Amino acid sequence: MAERHDAVEVIRAKRDGGRLSDSQIDWVVDAYTRGLVAEEQMSALAMAILLRGMDRLEIVRWTSAMIASGERMDFSGLSRPTADKHSTGGVGDKITLPLAPLVAACGVAVPQLSGRGLGHTGGTLDKLEAIPGWRAELSNPELMAQLEDVGAVICAAGAGLAPADKKLYALRDVTGTVEAIPLIASSIMSKKIAEGTGALVLDVKVGSGAFMTSLEDARELARTMVDLGTDAGVRTTALLTDMGTPLGRCAGNGLEVAESVEVLAGGGPPDVVELTLALAGEMLAGAGVTGVDPAEKLADGSAMDTWRAMIAAQGGDPDAALPKARETEVLTAPRAGVLTRLDAMAVGLAGWRLGAGRARREDPVQPAAGVEWHARPGERVSAGQPLFTLHTDEPARFERALAALDGGWEIGDSHTPAPLVLDRII
Ligand code: URA
Repeated sequence: MAERHDAVEVIRAKRDGGRLSDSQIDWVVDAYTRGLVAEEQMSALAMAILLRGMDRLEIVRWTSAMIASGERMDFSGLSRPTADKHSTGGVGDKITLPLAPLVAACGVAVPQLSGRGLGHTGGTLDKLEAIPGWRAELSNPELMAQLEDVGAVICAAGAGLAPADKKLYALRDVTGTVEAIPLIASSIMSKKIAEGTGALVLDVKVGSGAFMTSLEDARELARTMVDLGTDAGVRTTALLTDMGTPLGRCAGNGLEVAESVEVLAGGGPPDVVELTLALAGEMLAGAGVTGVDPAEKLADGSAMDTWRAMIAAQGGDPDAALPKARETEVLTAPRAGVLTRLDAMAVGLAGWRLGAGRARREDPVQPAAGVEWHARPGERVSAGQPLFTLHTDEPARFERALAALDGGWEIGDSHTPAPLVLDRII
């Protein structure tokens, strides 16, 4: 049992730039989870952490305290090694969908405990819920059985996993304290370590559509998370990847499922394929699996077979038609040239305004809403050709979505796109 402290003493210590002791951290995280530290007190502490920071040992202890607030899962009884991926979130980021079955088809079990989206970035569960019949909620025995039989599970993280983080993340969301590196790193890593994966790859997004808009901040976040994972015995690496431009050619729940299925069928946009294969390579290496080429598993249909089994195991019909929006609106190119810029934040906001995302956790999302872009930076366009197709069930949403796109793209004369993978942190 943690030593007794006082919330105001802990807040003051951090407010004045001091470091929190192990016992202060253990106490405050535990007392907050049990409702003994008030929301307004934790909100003051989160703001003090955002402004003053935490040193490495404070972050390690904070993460351990969040893990200790709930259950830990154990996959050591499975017949194959486990690996997972976490993305810090971006626009059009559907990579988990093709990646989980692909890595499973290579012989590594993938327990993807995911969340729903908030704001302009989409959530993996929202995307899969566009598939008729698919259910996100699995019990722990169901999760284990599916991991053994199919090899891949994408489901909702149970309430027992790092409950301190569930409470704290909801509070940070409404108090302007999401963007603190110690809090982001401990939030993500407490869930991944409690989940019990053997290996982990982090996709840390950088750019206008990401939490981290500078490469320097993204590198610091990645370093902090890789160290936390490694210290906890999880083989962890990170890729820093561009999120100035959205991934693929669409953002929106059902639209992204369709694009993921194209990738699993051996096609799909080259950037989505490139990132899927890069992350698969990291996961296989982390799990100690060598001599399997994930590109072959896309080409020979085995990743698709695993996808179909994974969707069916959770009640989904992999052959069912995906929902179609009742209304579409097309935006055309005003001149011929080359697309020189497509801003991830503008596209994410447009998709959100069309109904693909939610403003509050309890809001519903439209499964068919979203944005398709018909050119990516570096591609030629002709005057009058469609640049964007907007999808929604409620046409009143078009005006604000078009306003979000305004200024979010440019046509010029030439452009060489920047690399997608910017750095690797081990
Ligand atoms: N994702 C999380 O799970 N936690 C954060 O703090 C930020 C992104």
